[in-house]
Amino acid sequence: MLANKHILLIVGGGIAAFKSLDLVRRLREQGARVTPVLTKAGAEFVTPLSLSALSASKVYQDLFNLTDEAEMGHIELSRAADLIVVAPATADVMAKMAGGHANDLASTLLLATDKRVLIAPSMNVRMWEHPATQRNLATLRNDGILVIGPNEGDMACGEYGPGRMAEVPEIIAAIDGALADGPLKGKHVLVTSGPTHEPIDPVRYIANRSSGAQGTAIAKALAALGADVTFVTGPADVPPPMDVTVVKVQTAAEMLKAVKAAGNVDAAVFAAAVADWHVANAGDSKIKKDGSGLPKLEFAENPDILATVSQMTKGRPKLVVGFAAETDDVIANATAKRKRKQCDWIVANDVSPETGIMGGSENAVTLISADGAESWPRMSKDAVAATLADRIAEALA
Ligand code: C5P
Repeated sequence: MLANKHILLIVGGGIAAFKSLDLVRRLREQGARVTPVLTKAGAEFVTPLSLSALSASKVYQDLFNLTDEAEMGHIELSRAADLIVVAPATADVMAKMAGGHANDLASTLLLATDKRVLIAPSMNVRMWEHPATQRNLATLRNDGILVIGPNEGDMACGEYGPGRMAEVPEIIAAIDGALADGPLKGKHVLVTSGPTHEPIDPVRYIANRSSGAQGTAIAKALAALGADVTFVTGPADVPPPMDVTVVKVQTAAEMLKAVKAAGNVDAAVFAAAVADWHVANAGDSKIKKDGSGLPKLEFAENPDILATVSQMTKGRPKLVVGFAAETDDVIANATAKRKRKQCDWIVANDVSPETGIMGGSENAVTLISADGAESWPRMSKDAVAATLADRIAEALA
C-alpha cells in the first residue's frame, strides 16, 4: 500500500519527536519515500542529520532558504507529496493550522497544500484538554484534517492522561487508510447545498434559513470515500469543504445552469433549499419608498432542479437523491414527493422549529426509496452524511 507513496513528514517540537525517527524508518521499509520538514522547535528534539540519514532525503527547515526556493519552491514542496503527516503535532502547530498562520516553513506548507493532511497530536494532558486546543481540534476536523490519537497514558512530563502521540504502527495504519482508494474512487458525484437568494431589486432578496451544513457534510463525506465531487452551493453560512470542486451560485436559475454544466455524473444529491419562486418583476434599480404605495411583487415559479435531473431521458445519473424538509406528515409527503419528482431516494426530515434541525448540528432522517421507508436514529449531520455516503457507494458499486 505504501510502496512508491511520497510522504511529507512535518516534525514538530515535542518529546515524541524521537518516535518520528522510527516512523521514517518504518515508512521507508514499506517502500514509501519520506521528505522531512523540521520545525525550529522540532530541531531542539531531533537533529536534521538523523532525519536526513534515516529518510535519505534533504531535510527542509527554513522558509527563506534561497537554495530550497531555487530547487523547489514551498508551494511545490507542499503539493509534491501524496500525503502530509504532522508528527508530533504540538498544540502550537495545531493552533497555527486552525488559525491559518503561515509564519514558518511548516505552517506555510500546511496552508498552501492541496493534499490531505494527517496529524498525530502530542502534548501535555492539560494542554490537550484546554478549551483552546479542543476548539482548534474541532476546526481542524471540520476542515477535513485527519487526526490519529493522542493516546492516554503516562507522559514524559510525569502526568497521566490523553496527550501521548499515537504509536508508530497506529500512525502507519492511519497513513494507509488516508492513502487508500475509497469505494467512490473514479465516481463523479454532484451535490447541491445551501439556500438560494432570489433578488427583489439589486439590494434586497428573498432567502431561507438553510445553513448549508447538511449539504456540506455530505460533500465532505463523499470526497472522503474518494468521489470526485462537484459542489454547487448557494450563499451558505458554513464554508465549502476542501477536496471538492466548488461552484457558487445565488439563484435557483443559476443553480440549474451550474448543475447542467457539471456534465455527466454517477450520482446527484440535491440537498439545497431552493426557493420555489423568484420575483418576476425584480427591479434593476433599488425600489424607493417614495410615497407611491407598497411595491407589488409578482412571483414566478423556479425550475425544479431535482425533478429536471430525475426526469432526464439522456445522461440521467444512476442515482438521484432528493431531500424533503417537511413539518407535517413527513413520511407520507416525502413518499409522494419521490414519486412526483421521480428521484430514486428521498432523505426526509422534520424541520418543525421544535426539532432544532434547521440550522442545528443534528438531523433525524428517514430514507425513502422504492423499497419503502427506513428511519435512522437522530445523529449529527456529519454522521447522517457519512451513512448516506456509504449507502451511495453501495448503490454505485
Ligand atoms: O419540492 P421541495 O422543495 O420540497 O423538494 C425538495 C427537494 O427538491 C430537495 O432535494 C431540493 O434540493 C430539491 N429542489 C430543487 N429545485 C427546486 C426545489 C427543490 O432541486 N426548485
